[in-house]
Amino acid sequence: MLEVIDVWKKYPPKTQALREVSFEAEEGSITAVFGENGSGKTTLLKVIASFLIPDRGKVLIDSVNIVEKPSFAVEKVSISTGYERSFYYRLSVEENLKFFGMLNDLLGKTLKRETERVMKELGLLECRKKRYMELSTGYKKRVDVARALMKKASIYIFDEPCSGVDLRTRLKIHEIMKRLKESGRIVIFASHDLEDLKIADRVIVLKKGEKVLEFSPKKEDLAAVLRGILEIQAFPGD
Ligand SMILES: Nc1ncnc2c1ncn2[C@@H]1O[C@H](COP(=O)(O)OP(=O)(O)OP(=O)(O)O)[C@@H](O)[C@H]1O
Ligand SMILES: [Mg+2]
Repeated sequence: MLEVIDVWKKYPPKTQALREVSFEAEEGSITAVFGENGSGKTTLLKVIASFLIPDRGKVLIDSVNIVEKPSFAVEKVSISTGYERSFYYRLSVEENLKFFGMLNDLLGKTLKRETERVMKELGLLECRKKRYMELSTGYKKRVDVARALMKKASIYIFDEPCSGVDLRTRLKIHEIMKRLKESGRIVIFASHDLEDLKIADRVIVLKKGEKVLEFSPKKEDLAAVLRGILEIQAFPGD
C-alpha cells in the first residue's frame, strides 16, 4: 500500500511545486497523474521514489515513512524518469540495460535472461547493439521503460512513458503496465494524454501543484470528467 499524505514541496526561492497532495494506491492498481506542463507531476513521482525530500508530509510504503527512511523506497520502487542523460550514450542498448540490471543485483544467467526478456518485450532486440546516442526519441523511451523493468519492485513509476512513441509501442506500454498491475504491483504514471487515462484505476489531476480532482475512469462518465478537466486546464483568458 502506498499512502501520500499532505505532501508539500517548494523549489526555492518561490516555486511551490506541490501543495497538500494526498492520495492512496493499493497493490494491483494503476494510478495516472494528469496535469498540464509544470503542474508538479514529475516532482510528485520523484518524491514517491525518494529522489526528492518533501518539505512537509509523509509518504508511506507498507506503513514505512520513506521520508524518514529513503532506503526503503530504494528497495521497493523502480522509476523510469524519462531523463536521457541518465544513460551511457556510448554504450549499446543491451550494455545499458545490463549495467542497470547489475546495479539492481542481477547477475550471471538471471541478468542475461532478464535483459533478453525486457528487450523482447519492448521490441529492442533488433537494435540491441546500437549505441544509445544513435536511437530515435521513441526508442530511447522504450529503453527507459525497459530499464525500469530490470528491477524487481513493488511500485513501478513511469514519467510520461508514452510521450513520443508510436501507437503500437503505446499499446505495448499499456499492456506492460496492466501486466504489472495483474501481478499485484502498484503502477503510477504521469501523462498529458487522455488516451492513457483509460487504463488507470484512479486518476489524480494536478494543477499548480494542487490535487484538484481524483476520479475513476472506469466507473465515471469519462466524457463528463474530461469536460471538467478541460475547464480546470483552461488557459487564463480562454
Ligand atoms: N529543479 C528544479 N528547480 C526549480 N524549479 C523546478 C525544478 N524542477 C521543477 N521545477 C518547477 O516546479 C514546477 C513543477 O514542475 P514539474 O517538473 O514537477 O512539472 P510537470 O507536471 O512534470 O511538468 P511537465 O508536464 O512539463 O513535465 C514547475 O513550475 C517547474 O518549473
Ligand atoms: Mg514532468
